[in-house]
Amino acid sequence: MLLLGIESSCDDTSVAVSNGVDILANVTYSQTEHAAFGGIVPEVASRAHDRKISATVETALKSAGVDIPDIDAIAVTQGPGLVGSLLVGLTFAKGLSLANGIPIVGVDHIDAHLYASWIGQKVIYPFLGLIVSGGHTQIVVVEAPLTHNVLGRTRDDAAGEAFDKTGKMLGLEYPAGPLIDQLARQGDPGRYEFPQALKGEGLDFSFSGLKTSVRYFLDQKSFSEEELVIERPHICAGISEAITQVLISKLRQAVRETSIQNVTIAGGVSANSMLRRKAVEMAEEEGVQMDLPPMEYCTDNAAMICRLGLIQLQQQGPSDLAMAPYSRQKG
Ligand code: KG4
Ligand code: ZN
Repeated sequence: MLLLGIESSCDDTSVAVSNGVDILANVTYSQTEHAAFGGIVPEVASRAHDRKISATVETALKSAGVDIPDIDAIAVTQGPGLVGSLLVGLTFAKGLSLANGIPIVGVDHIDAHLYASWIGQKVIYPFLGLIVSGGHTQIVVVEAPLTHNVLGRTRDDAAGEAFDKTGKMLGLEYPAGPLIDQLARQGDPGRYEFPQALKGEGLDFSFSGLKTSVRYFLDQKSFSEEELVIERPHICAGISEAITQVLISKLRQAVRETSIQNVTIAGGVSANSMLRRKAVEMAEEEGVQMDLPPMEYCTDNAAMICRLGLIQLQQQGPSDLAMAPYSRQKG
């Protein structure tokens, strides 16, 4: 079974080829066009996808050593995401499907993140997943194939947004998450403390207070540019500590409440070094198995679309060619 995966929900054009077990190619073009704007501009994103999609598909096929007639099914992100961006991938996939008589399956982007740790592996059910991306933060129980139950979610900003927005206040380029991660490694996480909202209060998250607190802190200190060069690593370490501490404490709570033995973390923020270290420590303390995705499958990628697409094909068969993109999370 050869699958072609296409992902274009946000600012990454990604195409993967899978033989049903292993990933033969995973080619991602990450748009750099947005850095100048300090955030993603939807119109710029869809145009950039349009410029890259064809070449990215060709590169992925070539690097996997296959051609379109070899492909048995196409898995494509249907939502949630920016509709203009989704339309580029979805329409391209529909065209390939129609012209070559290849079945197509529409995949949910958030659900697909949950399967990033199971690429090239058999999925073990039930498992508990913490999704931490630029748009979503939630704790989900996956009881059985395609049976997802959300236990907690953010009430405002996503964890990735908290990194990006506080990073912007510190003068870091978008997306600031990876830069904060790097700087935090040279800083003292105990030097400046930032709030960990809703800690110990159920499984929902809130990150808007952290943003406000960093804003007040910077206004009050009014560091000069020279001082900021010295203080930035410590502030980044403090921000990372606040975000990762609350994420891990809620995940620990979910582990205790559900007694589920297999746990994963997924989405862009799962690449964060402090979060990964704390996740492994927590799993050891709680006696559960922690599966973290390889770095290349943390941020948006088409390999995870192939992984969930395959499960959907096996469980439900292909989707209707008339399927439409959706911008918001289902349910
Ligand atoms: O999953 P993703 O690639 O896209 C969405 O579906 O949103 O996540 C992107 C988010 C961005 O907010 C980015 O700053 C964050 O993931 N991110 C990180 C790291 N790498 C990416 N945040 C903290 N530490 C990182 N190492
Ligand atoms: Zn994502």
